[in-house]
Amino acid sequence: MGTVSNITSVLVALAAWAYASTASAFASANDTIPAQAVLVDRLAYTVLGVNGAFRTSAFTELFNPTNATPPFFQVFDPAFLAILGPAATIRSIAANPDFAFAHEAPIWLPEADEVYFASLDGSPLGHSDIDHNNQVSKISLGDVAQAIDAAGPGVSAVNVGFTKIESLPEEVQMTNGGTGPLHGKLVFVNSGRGPLPPSLVLVDPADPANTTVLLDNFFGRQFNSLNDVKIHPKTGKLFFTDVTHGHLSDFRPAPLLPNQVYRFDPATGSVRVVAADFDKCNGIAFSPDGKTAFVTDTGVFQGYQSAVDQTATSTIYAYDIDPKTDTFTNRRVFAYIDTGAPDGIQLDAAGNVYAGCGDGVQVWNPEGTLIGKFFLATTAANLVFAGDGRLVILAETAVYLAEIAAKFNKVSFP
Ligand SMILES: *[C@@H]1O[C@H](CO)[C@@H](O)[C@H](O)[C@H]1NC(C)=O
Ligand SMILES: *[C@@H]1O[C@H](CO)[C@@H](O)[C@H](O)[C@H]1NC(C)=O
Repeated sequence: MGTVSNITSVLVALAAWAYASTASAFASANDTIPAQAVLVDRLAYTVLGVNGAFRTSAFTELFNPTNATPPFFQVFDPAFLAILGPAATIRSIAANPDFAFAHEAPIWLPEADEVYFASLDGSPLGHSDIDHNNQVSKISLGDVAQAIDAAGPGVSAVNVGFTKIESLPEEVQMTNGGTGPLHGKLVFVNSGRGPLPPSLVLVDPADPANTTVLLDNFFGRQFNSLNDVKIHPKTGKLFFTDVTHGHLSDFRPAPLLPNQVYRFDPATGSVRVVAADFDKCNGIAFSPDGKTAFVTDTGVFQGYQSAVDQTATSTIYAYDIDPKTDTFTNRRVFAYIDTGAPDGIQLDAAGNVYAGCGDGVQVWNPEGTLIGKFFLATTAANLVFAGDGRLVILAETAVYLAEIAAKFNKVSFP
């Protein structure tokens, strides 16, 4: 899901009086601070005072107290500097202000070093609605590396072209989630369009994108609009979220199922619900050991065009996974998001959690403490590691590449 289109990002200098302190917490870190990092001492902003410039919107006002110019790394905790490493950079690698071509479904294909993604579904900026399917594209990171080399020293934006996947069949309607590869095939979940059913499919990355539909119903009933998907790292079973966003975006009929998380076992065809009781479940991810599941809940968005409700969920939940039933148990709040809502979600090899939010990608340590942000000042709906040290961020009308120190958490299978 996404909401970037009609939001003007307003940078709020929260507290002009607050000295831009980079004091205590970072005192020993001087030689490891990348040029694009901005250190924000949390203690300097704990009190805004009776005349403080408090935010009233989680969408149009961002937390950028040092008024830094995006893109940059907003560092709250030294642990984020370890994720970045001393030479970290972040830049835009593809952009088209007239087309939200890079919304969700990011998949890194290692052999080709390409990243796939889908455009914003059900939105004018995504060029898609009930009569028009959205677009799946890919970008070559080899081309990106060449463009960066050609641009010379410094961290300047480059603009590499992306390629539409032309040959997808009619079963692939409004792609919104992607992961893998699974046995070499791209895994996509599609929201469906009008009466065309939502579906879970495998797509061969080789031309002509031969597609296998794995699932398009729950015992004969259409899903609402499938949103996101991950493969369990130990079992290879597929877990996906289903939510009302297709209906809220005027391209799917009224929902006939609750918003919930399902598990599909490709070996047996068994499909079952593993988590319920959401406002709007959205992104999903697993810890590297496969024991913890994370599900984002974007209840705060009431639909693309309508108002937001700031009192609704904007929350990442963590669960234990019952190894016998695959159900998600022991739900707890992992994080509540200060800006926008948590959409797509990924982990790194150390178990840090990254989510696309209203101001870029936010990062929490495994205990759920917000340690830093890849600050774009615009919505990032999803992201994917392209191997160790490369984070590709989808920001609707642009794609960003962050080159950092963190190691990736494999999402392919086996
Ligand atoms: C880091 O830099 C600051 C300001 O230049 C300096 O006061 C401080 O001593 C430095 N810390 C270390 C550990 O080098
Ligand atoms: C794609 O499917 C067609 C028709 O079934 C088949 O002839 C072709 O070999 C397939 N291509 C690949 C790359 O598997």
